[in-house]
Amino acid sequence: MTQDQLKALVGRAALAHVPAGAVIGVGTGSTVNHFIDALAERKGLIAGAVSSSVKSTERLRAHGILVLDAEAVGSLPVYIDGADEIDPHGFMIKGGGAALTREKIVADLAERFVCIADESKLVPVLGRFPLPVEVIAMALPQVSRRFAALGGRAVPRAGVLTDNGHPLLDVHGLQIADPLALETDINQWPGVVTVGIFARHRAQTCLLGGAEGVRTLTF
Ligand code: A5P
Repeated sequence: MTQDQLKALVGRAALAHVPAGAVIGVGTGSTVNHFIDALAERKGLIAGAVSSSVKSTERLRAHGILVLDAEAVGSLPVYIDGADEIDPHGFMIKGGGAALTREKIVADLAERFVCIADESKLVPVLGRFPLPVEVIAMALPQVSRRFAALGGRAVPRAGVLTDNGHPLLDVHGLQIADPLALETDINQWPGVVTVGIFARHRAQTCLLGGAEGVRTLTF
């Protein structure tokens, strides 16, 4: 099976984690696009969605699925999203699609995070995928220097601004042995909007697509 077929497989498998009649959180990316398309085939399964990006909002609406503002809901039973990397504890790197800030906001509203990914995303230690960080433009040089002090090489993502209008850094060369500690530390740096480590908002479940089918990991 191709990587895209594996993404389609887990996108469809995620339907089993959607409570009927609920408003759910919907992430961003190529795997989530498959989930949205599968959701559209089950018209009426959900009452609506809170979306983590302009792109996902457009896709949901194109299928006739109601999209609600985050401020309209107090909590969500589940948030379904992909990842760029996931480790054996459910800690993730996210933000390859530049949607990390809204993804973390919607994940924060949810009782459970269900990650959907093909098996290439499972790694023993986070950091092979360059770590995305959304930054206020004025702070780019200082934040880059802070990463250099940690042994990371921060590269501005050329030609990309987030849905919030901010630039991104992709930080190469980090071995993230303690994701919770590093996320907590980077969160204190002035000018950082969101770091793409999802440790405080890790996954509780991961549906991992591989040659043998879908494996369910619980953390
Ligand atoms: C978006 O910013 C990311 O966090 C996505 O969740 C991630 O990049 C998803 O990857 P796929 O496109 O492989 O699903």
